[in-house]
Amino acid sequence: MEDKAYKNHMAGLQDGRKVDEPCTIVIFGASGDLTVRKLIPALYHLFIEGQMPESFRVVGFARREKTDESWRKEMRAGIEKYSRTCKVNNSQWQAFSKNICYHRGDLTDAVAYDALAERLTKSENNRLSSNLVFYLAISPSLFGEVVDQLHTAKLLNRYVEGDARWQRVVVEKPFGHDLKSAQLLNNHLMRHARERQIFRIDHYLGKETVQNIMMFRFSNAIFEQLWNREAIDHVQITVSEDIGVGSRGGYFEEVGSLRDMMQNHLLQIMSLVAMEPPPSLEAEDIRNEKVKLLKSIRKMTPEIVAQNVVRGQYFAGTVNEDSRNGYRQEERVDPESNVETFVAMKLFVDNWRWSDVPFYLRTGKNLPNRASEVRLQFRPTPNVLFAAQDNLDLHANALTLRLQPDEGISLRFNGKVPGNSIETRPVRMHFGYNAEFGAYTPEAYERLLLEAMAGDATLFIRRDEVEAAWQIVDSIRKGWGDTPLSNREFYAAGTWGPVAADDLLEVDNHVWHIPLPD
Ligand code: BG6
Repeated sequence: MEDKAYKNHMAGLQDGRKVDEPCTIVIFGASGDLTVRKLIPALYHLFIEGQMPESFRVVGFARREKTDESWRKEMRAGIEKYSRTCKVNNSQWQAFSKNICYHRGDLTDAVAYDALAERLTKSENNRLSSNLVFYLAISPSLFGEVVDQLHTAKLLNRYVEGDARWQRVVVEKPFGHDLKSAQLLNNHLMRHARERQIFRIDHYLGKETVQNIMMFRFSNAIFEQLWNREAIDHVQITVSEDIGVGSRGGYFEEVGSLRDMMQNHLLQIMSLVAMEPPPSLEAEDIRNEKVKLLKSIRKMTPEIVAQNVVRGQYFAGTVNEDSRNGYRQEERVDPESNVETFVAMKLFVDNWRWSDVPFYLRTGKNLPNRASEVRLQFRPTPNVLFAAQDNLDLHANALTLRLQPDEGISLRFNGKVPGNSIETRPVRMHFGYNAEFGAYTPEAYERLLLEAMAGDATLFIRRDEVEAAWQIVDSIRKGWGDTPLSNREFYAAGTWGPVAADDLLEVDNHVWHIPLPD
């Protein structure tokens, strides 16, 4: 989009965040899970909340034989089953669904793209056919093919400065499986699109609470002053899941937790927590700071990996009284698989602000509960006065940003237990999203789709971010090599990972915070 047009557009968005420009969203992978569970429900909610452009169109592109009507029916059922409200109002559905249609075609067949191009141009509103969002909800191995085909059908071109028309490509993860493949993929996409036309999704960035990390840090004077090595002892980032791999065994065998979760979600959260204040709220300024942060993470040599990274795989156990298979018994999983379903690691950021402050990150499947949180533990007080009393057990102050569920922020400090003796207890001040703002939490995909239509790339991952994250992950995988999992690396479903994950903190006299709901 032209810079001036872009600025005007963004100014309009500040107010109520409605997209003004007409556009068409073409979803590749229209019969897939993501479309029915997330994308269409998100578009529907944006529509009923008045945030879609006045004029828009959604085209589902997939191979299966379907009519517009049958696809609409499936999509409606999807909203009723998976959306955050699970409700569809008839008249709103009528108004929404007349904008959505199905286009049958094979992703590798040029004729299907020509037919798509023809279909897209058949509109009384020119801008509907010139402003295009291509959402690739398909296997990454097909990204290259699809952009080539779009280009040949004259639907996608590298943006030329001054052109009022725009085309954007939204891609889902995994974005490559290592640095090299990510670079190849980036090179391929960039044959037909500029970086500003590519929107790489990390759905964690669409979560309200993840967006709030930056807001919290840079709109409050009290915390940012403490946000450094002088005050902070260490940082913990946990993203735990209480489910196993379910029906995604085949996919998981290819990725494992390191690539599925660490490479993207956890490193993204960490970069928001640890980056320097950007000079402005422009997407590029924010993303520059995130890249700088990722590049400041201490290089992971094989020796450091051996010491500071723990992997694990679940065996059969019980999660919340529900018995679970071991990973090796899951569908489409090799019974001798060495793929990790848990990773914990200690990272250091070698910059002025964070020198020597450990960042502990962990994520895993089939852990005792589902919770994502960031916890900053402050340095202890000097060992005088109350801290010097043998009978007092002072707890370190801690600030917890609870990302999901029970979203909120708590500050823990020591309070005096009322009475004549000196007794202290950790108490907390708590802010809960629900209590403060009500239960309204838009789905991550609502925000992300809105921003992709608006052309604001802040919540998407830039090429150099993806590549910097792969660099870290690749060096960890290199450290692991082909070594099979040892006995110490297994954990029972329903526990907090292998014992080695606790040892990782214990050597520093720390313990993992159990992310229980407050
Ligand atoms: C996805 C991973 O990116 O994130 C899944 O591929 C994981 O394995 C999911 O379950 C977790 O997302 P959320 O939003 O449920 O925390």
